[in-house]
Amino acid sequence: MTLPETMRAVEITEPGGPEVLALCERPVPVPGPGEILIKLAFAGVNRPDALQRAGAYAPPPTASDLPGLEGAGEIVALGPDVADWQVGDQVCALLPGGGYAEYVAAPAAHALPIPEGMPLRDAACLPETYFTVWTNVFMRGGLQAGERILVHGGTSGIGTTAIQLAAVRGARVFATAGSDTKCDVCRDLGAERAINYKTEDFVEVLRDEGGADLILDMVGGDYLPRNVKALADEGRLVQIAFLQGPKVELNFAQVMTRRLTITGSTLRPQSVAAKAEIAKGLEAEVWPLLNAGRIAPVMDSEFALEDAAKAHARLEDPSHIGKIVLKVAG
Ligand SMILES: NC(=O)c1ccc[n+]([C@@H]2O[C@H](COP(=O)([O-])OP(=O)(O)OC[C@H]3O[C@@H](n4cnc5c(N)ncnc54)[C@H](OP(=O)(O)O)[C@@H]3O)[C@@H](O)[C@H]2O)c1
Repeated sequence: MTLPETMRAVEITEPGGPEVLALCERPVPVPGPGEILIKLAFAGVNRPDALQRAGAYAPPPTASDLPGLEGAGEIVALGPDVADWQVGDQVCALLPGGGYAEYVAAPAAHALPIPEGMPLRDAACLPETYFTVWTNVFMRGGLQAGERILVHGGTSGIGTTAIQLAAVRGARVFATAGSDTKCDVCRDLGAERAINYKTEDFVEVLRDEGGADLILDMVGGDYLPRNVKALADEGRLVQIAFLQGPKVELNFAQVMTRRLTITGSTLRPQSVAAKAEIAKGLEAEVWPLLNAGRIAPVMDSEFALEDAAKAHARLEDPSHIGKIVLKVAG
């Protein structure tokens, strides 16, 4: 296949609001050792893209400056030392950046097959949240069947993934969200109890149940001391973002006397090998569930690549539920 030299992409012209996203022309990337080149059909839109756009989340030095952490399409070229994929294979992949573009290079080990029967549009929205939830809830958080998990931001891309995966693996799921409509969605996805945090106190709800064995939190701020109160003895708090800020006053005596664990991680700066391990776990443990249709991404809306600014405005509109996707090709 003859590849073009340049492609359409969306770049961040300066730090700011959605309006700073603009179409541009860039060279088609050349896949390096161990990398594949994907002609993207769709690219997922995630909150970290909005943070990058606002100037609050710089890409790692080796990554593209273009936003976009996930996508799905067809492999059109292989770099040296790629054995597991062929040109022509359809894949979805976790990207180091550069997903708002017609072509993107990614480590071959971060690509996964399209689940059976799943449209490319939906598969494009799997990698970022599934890698994040798998590593934080199961690898780091060690969630077991029968345990109680509290998922904050239950209708976010991350939250909708965490609720489904935890429920299907036998955990008891509690979720918070900011409206009754969102709470209905959390229950439909498998939460046994959804808590509208504007009208109910999640600490009271969880304490009445004996406390959470695991909390997945992206809010931070005053949620930090409240999460500690909501944990059961030996409970684990996994922090994946701080939408309300990372600095609080916290009494750590409870961490000691109730043997709590406070941990967290960010996906993007981790090594290629670490992300490849996460991909292996997903393929073995989670892809069979996707292939069987037992779980699926919750889709909010689709925008054309050139409407990336509208997609970001939608992402920052609190009424969105689940994933937002950019149509790149066609
Ligand atoms: N650590 C990692 O590796 C990693 C990877 C990917 C994403 N993340 C983080 O995970 C979070 C979710 O990502 P996503 O793409 O799934 O986001 P998203 O779909 O935009 O959802 C964010 C949700 O958080 C809730 N929320 C609670 N407090 C908020 C506040 N103060 N400001 C804004 N929203 C608030 C909102 O729902 P309500 O209306 O119900 O409050 C909103 O729907 C983001 O913070 C993202 O940066 C972390």
